[in-house]
Amino acid sequence: MQDSTYKVLVSDPLAQQGIDELKERGLDVDVRTGLSEDELCDIIGKYDALVVRSGTRVTQKVIEAATKLKIIGRAGVGVDNIDVHAATRRGILVVNAPEGNTISAAEHTIAMMLSLARNIPQAHASLRQGEWKRKAFMGTEVRGKTIGIIGLGRIGAEVAKRCIGLEMTVLGYDPYISKERADEIGVVLTSLDELIENSDFISVHTPLTKDTRNLIDREQFSRMKSKARVINCARGGIINEQALYEALKEGRIAGAALDVFEHEPPEGNPLLTLDNVVLTPHLGASTQEAQINVAVGVAREIADFLDGKPVRNAINMPPIRPEVLPQLRPCLELAERLGKFTSQLAGHYESVEIYMGGELAKREASVVKLAALKGLLEPVVGARVNYVNAEFLMRERKVEIATSQKDEDGEGGCEVSLRLHSDGSVLTVGGAVHRGQPRLLKIDSYPIDIVPEGFILVIKHIDKPNIIGPCCMVLGEMNINIAGMQVGRLTKGGESIMVLSVDTEVPQGAIEQIKGIDGVIDVRLVVM
Ligand code: NAD
Ligand code: MLT
Repeated sequence: MQDSTYKVLVSDPLAQQGIDELKERGLDVDVRTGLSEDELCDIIGKYDALVVRSGTRVTQKVIEAATKLKIIGRAGVGVDNIDVHAATRRGILVVNAPEGNTISAAEHTIAMMLSLARNIPQAHASLRQGEWKRKAFMGTEVRGKTIGIIGLGRIGAEVAKRCIGLEMTVLGYDPYISKERADEIGVVLTSLDELIENSDFISVHTPLTKDTRNLIDREQFSRMKSKARVINCARGGIINEQALYEALKEGRIAGAALDVFEHEPPEGNPLLTLDNVVLTPHLGASTQEAQINVAVGVAREIADFLDGKPVRNAINMPPIRPEVLPQLRPCLELAERLGKFTSQLAGHYESVEIYMGGELAKREASVVKLAALKGLLEPVVGARVNYVNAEFLMRERKVEIATSQKDEDGEGGCEVSLRLHSDGSVLTVGGAVHRGQPRLLKIDSYPIDIVPEGFILVIKHIDKPNIIGPCCMVLGEMNINIAGMQVGRLTKGGESIMVLSVDTEVPQGAIEQIKGIDGVIDVRLVVM
């Protein structure tokens, strides 16, 4: 059962099955749709989680007002209505439900393509007006035609599959997929230019990003076949609407089918006045099946997250597979504790290198890195750092981050070393998970072996008699119990390191007394 104090706001219409799922997991759910930005800002401070579809704009202002918010769930794919950057900065996780509406969106694309090819909406409207115009609505077959699909992710691939079924030739443009994947889908990968010039139908299926905004503009329209027809069931703005309007108006292309618009609803949009367009009001995911899938999918993610379980579809954090978590937990614990330890020992630093060794740490390197960064930041920024914003906060402090992996596989599957650079000096701290327990095994080149927990005194000193005793005496006189001790040295009589685990906080007076002992070079207290 979930902690019933968690409150979830659902601010867009959501399938009842999703709301039921949230309630069944013990969450306190309020459904309040149609709120203005100011109204949302007024109430968002009460909530731990927010569920939206595409209607609610989760702006920076909303996120700043969301003092308790831990997670934003998007019931659907596109997160362009959420300021993910602002959420990340605040450590708020953003999740979506990317798979639930794939088939519906792909089927809608096919429906739009066939409507466009056979003028179905125009013919329908004409017939309802009492007309019987068989010649006016002459169409075109799709069999034997070429479709160019831009973006071969989930929906693009399903559209391709269906087009192959319709006996079309399928070209594809997606710089992020491999030839093997394209072969698997049955698509011929081309450049964007080739696709534009050779396709009878062009369908976009990318997210809207700074790279895909206006991906199809005047230049592309000028190179299309005169009988080309374009389809956008992805996001308004990928095809430049003004350039599309001009191309359609001037008859440079044959038609367009649009489910999405730069501004929705598209009030006053001149595209609505043209005859050679087929329009739907963002219906790609509007099937009962898709709405239930995305609502339940996002509800599960939110409930799992608030329950301390990993989520599958995080937008602003690397995914953690639930099946590896039991094994991974001690490794993350190690990275975090090493970070916390090293940060207190180093004070200021300009760059951090994170080395990962062992099969597990290497395989889950992106999350292990976040754990180390979180640990490094915690002594400085406190509890506001989490896995979502750790890298962001570190970069905001202008600390350079580098990661690398050791070639050889370490024992136990998880080894982590942190190297902090500051003003020409370097501090290295390393450790490993041993029998499920995080252990600190190295400070610079000194070998040690302690569990990084509680209070730890790190004393650098000359390797000579009569140092360890007096240090322990100071602690003893202050009634501070020593739980464990390790001494590491490189050469006899050279510099040495003493690491004392103590049961209670060590007052500054004791640290000063130890610093005064002949042969002691430096003393640091680390609080885990
Ligand atoms: P996806 O992430 O699975 O696929 C997107 C693909 O676009 C990826 O393969 C990616 O490599 C590719 N891509 C990214 N940048 C590109 C670029 N510059 N050029 C070419 N390809 C690029 O996403 P998806 O689930 O397939 O969704 C695709 C789009 O459909 C999204 O915009 C989503 O919001 C939208 N969508 C709309 C509806 C609707 O109701 N109309 C429903 C669901 C999804
Ligand atoms: C999506 O991105 O999931 C779709 O556009 C559907 C929706 O907005 O609900």
